[in-house]
Amino acid sequence: MELKEIKKIYSDLSKNYNKLVKNRGKYTAYKKMSLLIIKELKLKNAKILDLGCGTGLSSLEFFNKKYEVTGIDFTPEMIKESKKLSFKKLICQDLETPLKVKDKEFDAVVLTGVMEFIKNPLSLFKEINKKLKSGSIFAITIPKKFPKYSKAPYKNYYKKEIEPVFKKAGFKIIECKYFFGFRQLKGTQNIYYYGYILKKVKPATK
Ligand SMILES: C[S@@+](CC[C@H](N)C(=O)[O-])C[C@H]1O[C@@H](n2cnc3c(N)ncnc32)[C@H](O)[C@@H]1O
Repeated sequence: MELKEIKKIYSDLSKNYNKLVKNRGKYTAYKKMSLLIIKELKLKNAKILDLGCGTGLSSLEFFNKKYEVTGIDFTPEMIKESKKLSFKKLICQDLETPLKVKDKEFDAVVLTGVMEFIKNPLSLFKEINKKLKSGSIFAITIPKKFPKYSKAPYKNYYKKEIEPVFKKAGFKIIECKYFFGFRQLKGTQNIYYYGYILKKVKPATK
């Protein structure tokens, strides 16, 4: 999918996103993944980077814990919705360009509902590695590939395709959950997720 097309979808959806994805889409990954991070971190104070933060659903649990959250998204209308929440900082940029945040700044990075659109996972994962402190956590949803949907318009993966990419980017797998992702709002296909909790075990290489 072209960037322009993705931005248009989320720009049009922005005002109704929360209601639509929760009710009709049955999307719960945003909550599952943030709770897994909180369980793994066991920290009183933490700095979180929410990539593709959208309207901010993926950070609600972090706000409850009073964590400091920076959100990044490239759709201005989604950022506008996120501004209603307690983000420390919101940045409007494409995730596939160098991230405009400091290196080794964050205890965890969360990326939920976004891998569907990412063209170069390795270069994004390496960039995420740079932004994490040593030993910190990266939580990500990966849409599962089904052979019968091989022509799907969104990116999807077999485990054996994506797991070596995590390793190459300096991450170790701590946990992998498999769960219902969402029901497409247009179309009938159900999307299933692998929800990975990863740990940074070495710095990203060039
Ligand atoms: C399905 S929403 C997920 C929002 C939020 N993480 C959640 O779980 O509710 C996907 C978001 O990713 C953003 N997005 C997709 N591709 C992006 C890119 N290359 N750079 C920045 N944001 C992107 C879209 O604008 C949209 O807000």
